Amino acid sequence: MILSIESSCDDSAIAITDIETKKLIFHKKISQVEHSIYGGVVPELASRLHIKALPLIFEETKEYLHKLKAVAVTNEPGLSVTLMEGVMMAKAIALSLNIPLIAINHLKGHIYSLFIEKDEIFPQIILLVSGGHTQIIEAKSYSQMSILANTLDDSFGESFDKVAKMLQLGYPGGPIIEKLAKDGDKERFSFPVPLSQSPKLAFSFSGLKNAVRMEIENLKELSEEDKRDVSASFQKTASTHILQKVKKVFKSRDVKNFAIVGGASANLYLREKIEHLCNQFSIKLHLSELEYCSDNSAMIGRLAIEKYKRGEIINDLNLEVNPRFKSF
Ligand code: KG4
Ligand code: ZN
Repeated sequence: MILSIESSCDDSAIAITDIETKKLIFHKKISQVEHSIYGGVVPELASRLHIKALPLIFEETKEYLHKLKAVAVTNEPGLSVTLMEGVMMAKAIALSLNIPLIAINHLKGHIYSLFIEKDEIFPQIILLVSGGHTQIIEAKSYSQMSILANTLDDSFGESFDKVAKMLQLGYPGGPIIEKLAKDGDKERFSFPVPLSQSPKLAFSFSGLKNAVRMEIENLKELSEEDKRDVSASFQKTASTHILQKVKKVFKSRDVKNFAIVGGASANLYLREKIEHLCNQFSIKLHLSELEYCSDNSAMIGRLAIEKYKRGEIINDLNLEVNPRFKSF
């Protein structure tokens, strides 16, 4: 079995996965609600909360420790002070049990959320929408992954967080905005769709965020109805932007399998629109289960199996954290 740890942002999570069967034996996550009042994640607070939460979850894995062959941990990208908590814990476990470490790239982990308790499916084109990243990835195989599109500024999930903050709704903004948007009028405000005239395969959300800010300032006193309508109009525009760029990819490539991963892939409005587009192009859509969209340790464990089988292990505790994404 492999024990996997995730602490790249505000979720403390540990899983135990069986290497041969890929079965998820145990997994638990403690999400830090304490950031809500700040409208975003406070790194130092997140780090202190991981110190409390990770050992609590680890205690529940005692019965599996004698079966462990390796300990996997997210070491990039993410908040350096929170990544360090997971990496230090992983090193302590590896040292005391005399087993190797496995370094996990968080974004590749999100891709492997598609394959929890399943076999891999390649090639795929993958849309990754999280709080830190918005990318379209061409994944030909485990070792051949390249980025087709990236964001020029904010990420899709981050733009939901920022709009929620402007509306004083709390954090994380994605689920709150989605819920409000359900009963809102998405046609009331016509925000400009970012890069709609640009041939570039890229994303941008900061202009849209500013357009929303200006509309909120215009409204002055916000009624509950205003908040619902702003949420619905913003969600529609942000999703249309994603749709337009994904459509470009579908038109220019022979795509058979498409997937959406990352925390914001839980957004049902976006899922529905993407599903419709995939149907139009006769492309098979792959989605992770809702509980594995946001950060979790099960996806880290699933990727760790592949790394373990390929001998991509670290035997000398020589593992550093990288806050920035470099490559897959
Ligand atoms: O993947 P994730 O858990 O953490 C990162 O790796 O960043 O993604 C968290 C992000 C947050 O920005 C959150 O607001 C967004 O995903 N999110 C959503 C939804 N649920 C979470 N965004 C839009 N709609 C949602 N339903
Ligand atoms: Zn994530």
